[in-house]
Amino acid sequence: MKKFLCIALAVILTVSMVAAFAACSKDNKETTAATEATTTEAKETLVMATNAEFPPYEFHEGDKIVGIDAEIAQAIADKLGMELKIEDVQFDSIIPGVQAKKYDMGMAGMTVTKERQESVNFSTSYAKGVQVVIIKENSDIKSIDDLKGKKIGVQTSTTGDIYATDDFGEENITKFDNGAMATQALVAGKVDCVIIDNEPAKNYVAANEGLKILETSYVEEDYAICFNKENTELMDKVNKALEELIADGTVKTIVDKYIKAD
Ligand code: ARG
Repeated sequence: MKKFLCIALAVILTVSMVAAFAACSKDNKETTAATEATTTEAKETLVMATNAEFPPYEFHEGDKIVGIDAEIAQAIADKLGMELKIEDVQFDSIIPGVQAKKYDMGMAGMTVTKERQESVNFSTSYAKGVQVVIIKENSDIKSIDDLKGKKIGVQTSTTGDIYATDDFGEENITKFDNGAMATQALVAGKVDCVIIDNEPAKNYVAANEGLKILETSYVEEDYAICFNKENTELMDKVNKALEELIADGTVKTIVDKYIKAD
């Protein structure tokens, strides 16, 4: 019996010693990590999701992503002492990715809508957009009413897609991965028009022969940055920086660099 007690005691002692040692070394590791963080001053990253097929807001220039959104985001990151990292993804995976906390924010010439506000929070608006209709120069489409029964090209999940589907019926809508592809389909005669934001539309019309923008615009909207609903702390910081950049004229300077007055 005594022998058994002895063994039991020895076992208990060993187990608690091992546990104490483990706890101790874990503590050590944590202290080292904390010291490193303060000494190396690694900048916190700000991960922005975009869809860089949307000039002049975001597009590829060589291996870089440039444009109004990219530059405003960089100015925000600079103000916050953060390192900006841009992820180029499909437009319709930006909001799900922000909801899943894969990205800190989404910035993609993104329109504030009631439906989207159910999934994400939006920053202060930094630009206005208008949905317009691109047609061929010789098109018989003269007004929004004439779009009834026409084949309409859009970029998947954009407001152009959502509004046109509502107004003219799913069966008349052809969805493309980006505006450039929709415009190519218009040039090739596969669709009769493309509904898209005005500034990218101007770019596509300039890049292709025989296209024009319908005089009457379709829907007016506000662009803003979206955030995970739980991350109000980051949104507040970004909003403060953004509002300062609007107030001191930085945002306007960036916009004017990419959008020449017409
Ligand atoms: N403003 C439109 C929307 O929010 C289109 C945005 C498309 N942006 C892009 N980067 N592809 O639905």
